[in-house]
Amino acid sequence: MSGKFLRVLDGEKFDVPPIWMMRQAGRYLPEYREVRAKAGGFVDLCLNPDLASEVTLQPIRRFGFDAAIIFSDILIVPYALGAKLWFEEGEGPRLAPVSDAATFRKLSDQLDGKITECVYEALARTKAALPKETALIGFCGAPWTVATYLIAGRGTEDQAPARLLAMQEPELFQKIIDRLVDASGEHLIGQIKAGADVVQIFDTWSGVLDPASFERWCVKPVAKIAGMVRAAVPNARMIVFPKGAPLNGIEAVAKQSSANAVGVDWIADRRECVVRFGDKFVTQGNLDPLALIAGGKALDEAVDAVLADFKGARHIFNLGHGIRKETPIAHVERMIARVRKN
Ligand code: CP3
Repeated sequence: MSGKFLRVLDGEKFDVPPIWMMRQAGRYLPEYREVRAKAGGFVDLCLNPDLASEVTLQPIRRFGFDAAIIFSDILIVPYALGAKLWFEEGEGPRLAPVSDAATFRKLSDQLDGKITECVYEALARTKAALPKETALIGFCGAPWTVATYLIAGRGTEDQAPARLLAMQEPELFQKIIDRLVDASGEHLIGQIKAGADVVQIFDTWSGVLDPASFERWCVKPVAKIAGMVRAAVPNARMIVFPKGAPLNGIEAVAKQSSANAVGVDWIADRRECVVRFGDKFVTQGNLDPLALIAGGKALDEAVDAVLADFKGARHIFNLGHGIRKETPIAHVERMIARVRKN
């Protein structure tokens, strides 16, 4: 019998929802920082199956979450297509930008198996080491969000470089998106074959697009990826996370990709999610990561509000975005105890 996390995705409801956290393997944990230092760099850690599996398991050992998410990054897909990737300490990831026809031509149309195999190997090892009741999540970035990094070569405030390229050179932009669709679909299929029980598509920057652009660059590409995955693995479980999008947009992504679950950030109106999504899909979310830093009464009240609003609905408890590195571990423990009514 599978654990609670998969059972909710498959249609059951529980008084106490399953719980995990986006970015649960990360710098707020001393044991992560230790392994990260040993690995050399962030990219080296992503590509080391032993250590990637180890840091994936760390939050499971410490907190007993209902799901583990494989330690990797959404930028591994462009990296495996030949875009240079490195990590500026204290800043973040950097990619050699692909922002014109000439640099796009140099991008491969095949994922480099030497790179993706590291992720699949990490999944296989993690799967073998996880408790039976703990689900294993694979993931990729949505094409739009990955394109914002690929085009600018880094994270940007307002995703202006990608938005501008989509306006100035829509044909080239479509080619970039199509390339990312094919590669992401293949990568998700590879992760499921390697042992992922479910895959999540992160569209972190989907909230900056007008409705027509959202339809073209978020809804359609994610639906296409979902179609590829389902064609290869008909019963694949999928979670979509169009962060920051209005509920109409979120619903469109979930419906057109026949997702099992949809992630929402803390801005989402929870009661409205319950009304709209009903029993069609699970809602995953949506505690404000800052409530987890605040702790105390503010945290308790925020947790209780999430639980009360989703009471009786198909729900997976999570944050509305990744946990921040300054979050006290005691606050994570307090949140879990409150959700599980311990
Ligand atoms: O625990 C997990 O959630 C699994 C691993 C995971 C990472 N990145 C590890 C990571 C996942 C699912 C991601 C997804 C990811 N990566 C997204 C989508 C979700 C989101 O957070 O919006 C995005 C946009 C990226 C790209 C990326 N990677 C950025 C912008 C950064 C720098 C920001 C930061 O927090 O430093 C990264 C680096 C990164 N990815 C870290 C981790 C643990 C920090 C690296 C370190 O210094 O150890």
